[in-house]
Amino acid sequence: MIKLGVLISGSGTNLQAIIDRIADGTLDASIELVVSSRADAYGLLRAQAAGIQTLTMDKSFYDEDNTADRIIASEMRYRNVDYILMAGYMRMVHEPLLAAFENRVVNIHPALLPSFKGAHGIQDAYDYGVKVTGVTVHFADNRYDCGPIIAQRALAVQEGWTVDELEAEIHKIEHVLYPEVVGLLAADRVRVRENGTVEILPE
Ligand code: GRF
Repeated sequence: MIKLGVLISGSGTNLQAIIDRIADGTLDASIELVVSSRADAYGLLRAQAAGIQTLTMDKSFYDEDNTADRIIASEMRYRNVDYILMAGYMRMVHEPLLAAFENRVVNIHPALLPSFKGAHGIQDAYDYGVKVTGVTVHFADNRYDCGPIIAQRALAVQEGWTVDELEAEIHKIEHVLYPEVVGLLAADRVRVRENGTVEILPE
């Protein structure tokens, strides 16, 4: 059983997908703490409904150099967390957290990295007119949407889709792919090679 910490800023549907897979026995994991960078994040209510401890980091914690990351790192270490999942966390993670959890901070991005980094990956891919986009799960580093890629799933963009339709399809994939990756981590099947690529070990 692996212990998870989850970082959110918003609706928390990816958090919910992981809560659900733990509850139905698909994932051998527990969520020890949910940290939100926003007090009004709906994901906090999802965590509380599942009986998970929460911590809200006031905006001021992010003003000073790395204070938020230092507090998050110590809260996660105190709870013996194995992996930290960023799930719609609209903040960058920095050295205090990355050093304490080397190759143990994971992010999900709603596009096929390295394309369409940033906060508007779905809209940007849609506006560009790509015919294939998708979802990426990767280890985080101190740059936005960079770091070793663990898993990707592609989605063919259908003629006539609105951006909302594309978004709905992307989220469906996210809610399957993120729990799958957590399953790989729980089974200790994810290894980062020296060159920064990721090997998925056979079962
Ligand atoms: C997801 O699309 C994720 O890929 C991106 O932010 C969104 C978070 O959605 N990083 P939710 O808060 O999990 O519903």
